[in-house]
Amino acid sequence: MKGLILSGGRGTRLRPITFTSAKQLIPVANKPILFYGIEALVESGIREIGIVVGDTGQEIKDAVGDGSQFGAAVTYIEQPAPLGLAHAVLISEAFISGEPFVMYLGDNLIRERLAPLVETFRAAAPNAQILLARVPNPQQFGVAELAGGRVVRLVEKPKKPASDLALVGVYMFDRDVFDAVSAISPSARGELEITDAIQWLIDHGRTVIPHVIDGWWKDTGKLEDLLEANRIILDTIGRRIEGEVEGSEVLGKVVIEVGAKVVQSTVRGPAVIGKGAMIENAYIGPFTAVGDHAIIRSSEVEHSIILEGSTITDIGGRIESSLIGRNVSIYRSTTKPKSYNLMLGDRSQVGLP
Ligand code: G1P
Repeated sequence: MKGLILSGGRGTRLRPITFTSAKQLIPVANKPILFYGIEALVESGIREIGIVVGDTGQEIKDAVGDGSQFGAAVTYIEQPAPLGLAHAVLISEAFISGEPFVMYLGDNLIRERLAPLVETFRAAAPNAQILLARVPNPQQFGVAELAGGRVVRLVEKPKKPASDLALVGVYMFDRDVFDAVSAISPSARGELEITDAIQWLIDHGRTVIPHVIDGWWKDTGKLEDLLEANRIILDTIGRRIEGEVEGSEVLGKVVIEVGAKVVQSTVRGPAVIGKGAMIENAYIGPFTAVGDHAIIRSSEVEHSIILEGSTITDIGGRIESSLIGRNVSIYRSTTKPKSYNLMLGDRSQVGLP
């Protein structure tokens, strides 16, 4: 059994961060989202993993390497343009070479362990197994209609969904999926949809079995989902203090990585403070991930993701529910007249009180 992780895509809903970085490499609880998927595959016994990459391929290769850091062997497959998930499968045929495989969307996070699902797939040997989750907003996903324990219809982002069962971005296929992805035509958004490929399997008498997952699932394509994923993962961490703490209160589930310093501050967990970060005279509230070498001085931050190398100093109010990119500087300006001095990238979002 092989693994195929899809890590192309432009991440338009997370601009400006994704102008300069792949969305799959945005960290959740200080670990790139993509790494959770790789680890889940390895944990379920899959070692041979193909990663489909697009424009941000080099960055993904730099982060993942040959896969040995995960105990996997990674092969990169270049997708020349983002022509859809089924197109990504089509160009991966040589890598998959007839074996059954798990396809994992690189921006998805699920809590449920993959191993038992992989086991069911091996034992029942259907042509495809799809994962489904009940969601309040099915219009934003592929939606499944079930009857008698089988999948009867799948529609991509329907205006009038037939159920609240969304397609989770983890799929299992046997070689028949290659017949499907070669047969379908592009959708209205110009992509070869995996949803249409699975519908093709159903229409051609192949067996597609559903599994409704337990626990949470996040497609981290949008800011609020990313913050929610960060909150959920931070909630599962333990306490581990490897950095220095001086004259500070560090409460609850907090990770302070090696080389980090917390001075005259309060850190209220769950929270992680990255390697070499500096927290001074500050408050770090629950559900905050502070990246490596970030500096937070005389400021308050809560329920936020601060990426590496950023500096936040002397901010009057509290920064909340925010995603701050790499090497960003936020500071109190002392120039007169009293004014906001901003240098923001295209599509930045700033909410002032
Ligand atoms: C894709 C699939 C959709 C699925 C979703 C899960 O959507 O097309 O069926 O529900 O992933 O994350 P996209 O993120 O490409 O809009």
